[in-house]
Amino acid sequence: RMGHMGLILRNMEASLTARDRVGIQDFVLLDAYTSESAFLDNLRKRFHENLIYTYIGTLLVSVNPYKELDIYSKKQMDTYMGVNFFELPPHIYALADNVFRTMQSEFNNHFILISGESGAGKTEASKKILQFYAVSCPSTKLLNNVRDRLLLSNPVLEAFGNAKTLKNDNSSRFGKYMDIQFDHQGGAVGGHILSYLLEKSRVVHQNHGERNFHIFYQLVEGGEEDLLRWLGLERNCQHYSYLVQGGCAKVSSINDKSDWRMVQKALSVIEFNESDIEHLFGIIASVLHLGNIKFVADVRGYASLNNNQEMHWLLGIPAQVLQQGLTHRKIEAKAEEVFSPFSVDHAVYARDALAKAIYGRTFNWLVNKINESLANKDSSRKTVIGLLDIYGFEVFNVNSFEQFCINYCNEKLQQLFIQLTLKSEQEEYEMEGIEWEPVPYFNNKIICDLVEEKHRGIISLLDEECLRPGEATDLTLLEKMEETIGGHPHFVTHKLADQKTRKTLERGDFRLLHYAGEVTYCVVGFLDKNNDLLYRNGKEVMRQSKNAIIKHCFPSTEPDSKRRPETVVTQFKSSLVGLTEILMSKEPWYVRCIKPNEAKQPGRFDDVLVRHQVKYLGLMEHLRVRRAGFAYRRKYDIFLQRYKPLCPDTWPNWKGTAAEGVRCLIKHLGYKPDEYKMGRSKIFIRHPRTLFATEDAFQVCKHKLGEILFSKVKQRDAATKIENCWRGIMARKEREKRAWAVKVIKKFIKGFITRNQPACNDNSEYLAYVRQNYLTRLRENLPKTVLEKDSWLTPPPIMKEASQLLKKLYIRHMVGKYVQGITPQRKAQLVLKAQTSSMFKGKKENYPFSVCRPFVDTRIGAEDINIKVLQMIQHEHIKYSVPVVKYDRNGFRPRLRQLIFTQEAAYLVEEAKIKQRIDYISLKGVSVSNLSDNFLILHVTCDDIKQKGDLVLQCDYLFEALTKLSVIANKQNYIKVVQGSVRFDIQPGREGFVDFKSGQESMVYRAKNGHLMVVSPCLFSNTAPWLLPIVFYVS
Ligand SMILES: Nc1ncnc2c1ncn2[C@@H]1O[C@H](COP(=O)(O)OP(=O)(O)OP(=O)(O)O)[C@@H](O)[C@H]1O
Ligand SMILES: [Mg+2]
Repeated sequence: RMGHMGLILRNMEASLTARDRVGIQDFVLLDAYTSESAFLDNLRKRFHENLIYTYIGTLLVSVNPYKELDIYSKKQMDTYMGVNFFELPPHIYALADNVFRTMQSEFNNHFILISGESGAGKTEASKKILQFYAVSCPSTKLLNNVRDRLLLSNPVLEAFGNAKTLKNDNSSRFGKYMDIQFDHQGGAVGGHILSYLLEKSRVVHQNHGERNFHIFYQLVEGGEEDLLRWLGLERNCQHYSYLVQGGCAKVSSINDKSDWRMVQKALSVIEFNESDIEHLFGIIASVLHLGNIKFVADVRGYASLNNNQEMHWLLGIPAQVLQQGLTHRKIEAKAEEVFSPFSVDHAVYARDALAKAIYGRTFNWLVNKINESLANKDSSRKTVIGLLDIYGFEVFNVNSFEQFCINYCNEKLQQLFIQLTLKSEQEEYEMEGIEWEPVPYFNNKIICDLVEEKHRGIISLLDEECLRPGEATDLTLLEKMEETIGGHPHFVTHKLADQKTRKTLERGDFRLLHYAGEVTYCVVGFLDKNNDLLYRNGKEVMRQSKNAIIKHCFPSTEPDSKRRPETVVTQFKSSLVGLTEILMSKEPWYVRCIKPNEAKQPGRFDDVLVRHQVKYLGLMEHLRVRRAGFAYRRKYDIFLQRYKPLCPDTWPNWKGTAAEGVRCLIKHLGYKPDEYKMGRSKIFIRHPRTLFATEDAFQVCKHKLGEILFSKVKQRDAATKIENCWRGIMARKEREKRAWAVKVIKKFIKGFITRNQPACNDNSEYLAYVRQNYLTRLRENLPKTVLEKDSWLTPPPIMKEASQLLKKLYIRHMVGKYVQGITPQRKAQLVLKAQTSSMFKGKKENYPFSVCRPFVDTRIGAEDINIKVLQMIQHEHIKYSVPVVKYDRNGFRPRLRQLIFTQEAAYLVEEAKIKQRIDYISLKGVSVSNLSDNFLILHVTCDDIKQKGDLVLQCDYLFEALTKLSVIANKQNYIKVVQGSVRFDIQPGREGFVDFKSGQESMVYRAKNGHLMVVSPCLFSNTAPWLLPIVFYVS
């Protein structure tokens, strides 16, 4: 952005100095706008500074510098792309760019009319515009193709249509209107060329100091040896009479050889194939050969060919036919065809007519061919920019029919210019709602009418003379004109003139007062040139040609001489009508070219010559029209954008509409009410001085702004520097962090790899980390209770020993804590349980189930023991009582009894009866099975026969009861866990057996062998043993 801004500022600077030093860049701002001298002064001042372009509003005045200026580079093109008119010094690129952008935004058609006299730079200007579009338009590969063809159509057309004249070494001898077609995106997608009235007479005749069309010299000078040989040509222009009449076949400013190469390249780009090229140069050579044909008079004075030529074979016409055609005229008399022989003069005339016809038609073919290659076949809508580069107003010492046509053409274009400018100006005022003040201007319609009015105009009279029967000559034409239009203020002849004027006129002259000045025409040749008669058999001869182009140019369907073809001037007139229609439908833009001197020299500014051009180009009038109301107008937004720094309210940004902003701005600047008008979209400023005051204020302000901008830039620079510095620091920090991380990670990996080796430098840190890590994790994962002691975190190898020690320590600590928390009751209970454990653990199958059942003091309270019994044994201190089932010794019948342990003995009690007393001293032992039953057999010593034998009991609290017994009687070792069978004494000397076995369900019965059979369910087969501890834990 800054770059762009800087560029604009720089360019404004440039334009400012330009304005100060060398006049103004827009004539509209000229205070003395009615003064031709002031106009000229400005133009001259600028010209001497190589500022060849100046505006009149949107019209561009261009003065031919006659030297290469360094203002057409690609860089310049870029500079002018998309920039407003008045922001940069005037340039043809600015105009081209404006046309293009207007077309793009309004999507309508435009044309650029380039006018000026011969050598003023029209063709150069049109090329510059084309080049600008070639570079600036969006392009694709396909479009590049079109672009190349558009560009290269120029050298071809110039080779065939331009020639060296006295006025211009590269003078266009035809009028050219070229449409460039653009698609929606602004890409150049095609083109079309219209050509106007080629000056064919040049093919056969050149004035002194002039040449034929370039292509002839290019072929002779540049053509390859083979080609020349094939064409029968020699490399010497002097050999061809059509090339030497002007006496200047060689011109220093023209390089025919390199131009030839250019044309070759161009022809291939615009799709001329081998045979096209062959035929084309066959024709050019044939014209040269034709020109060398000489005639001699035979004895009767009739013409005959005296030299043999090669053209017949080049064109593929039988020699006989060609000879006959060149020396005879065919006359149709009644039903017969009669050949009437020519005199030598006639034959020469017929030969030249043929040469002109061939060349003229070939030129048209060429234009069509180029158009085919430029044609865009796509039917989508296009917009066009037309470029009109047409021969300028021309005044020679002797002026003929061609000059008449050319100058008529210029009158027409001036008419168009007047209409379009006045019209558009008027429209603008209307559109902006501003009152229109008419401007007096010279309307050249009167001259146009003089030339083209039906029946009375010069063209009508000329045609009449050409077509009427009888002896019409150029002089009868002159007479007729004198009769018909003699009184016209813009027409004068020798006969009609006053004495003073008569001296400047010959008898055969007529003079027209063109809008651009007086031109004296010599009437000689008018009829002939207008008729442009090609004797009929000349055409017929051509029809026999084998050359494809000639065949195409002389079609057999051509209306023959029975109906007269239109005269040249009438054809020209209708083509101009067509052109006017084309142009009227488009938006006009103008480039007015001025020739600074006649000598084609740089740096010379001929005041008289330029003043004359300024006059007839209508520049003063244009300026007057532009200035009629208001010298200066500008769209509000653009005006505001430029001058807003001049008012504190509008700087730097205006919030409202542009029109309000401008109103505020000019109020601040003190514009007086009569100095300006506010239109709908534009401000109109009446006097240039008002604008200059504003502009000067702006220039002063701009420098200040520049300084502010500069200091801002400096501030920004500083900020950027600090930022850079800071970023640098951060980046370095980041880098250090990464380097550190890399080191740590490397060390970690190395440590991991060497973790099992003895401590060393490589693994010390890693191991420290592992240790610390393990300890931290261990702290968080310690067992919560003693019971979880096996869920110890697995240590890393280096921590195995430490881990074991820690575990022991920790468990001890846990146990200690547990023990501390135990009550005396609980302790007593646990002591008992430990006792039970030592007696039964791993020995009796149902022991594990007992572990979780707490022992109680007694199972039968004192209140449930019979009072008699209590009275009998109380003194022995009852320690524990429990309900049991006693199996009779005889028959093993079960009986419910109470078993009571006192300090001294165990008692089996039935209600109030003590059924048996077993003194602990006489208790031999206690047997229990290893299975899950609840049987216990108390063995007693039986010395006395009367004494009862062993007791077979079943007790639900087997483990509790036996533990109590062992403690009370202090008889741990007496309790035996047995397998299979227990022998017991029913009575002393009488034995009994209790057999134990595992089964599906509990059963007790007297077996057939007289044994008591106790079946108890097998706990370990039905219940998964590993469930047992769980049962224990849960309880
Ligand atoms: N902008 C320019 N920069 C440099 N030289 C220029 C420029 N314009 C014109 N010339 C010179 O002037 C010569 C004549 O210009 P150009 O052929 O464009 O004239 P013209 O107006 O087309 O004339 P004519 O009506 O005879 O065709 C060019 O060959 C070139 O040498
Ligand atoms: Mg030209």
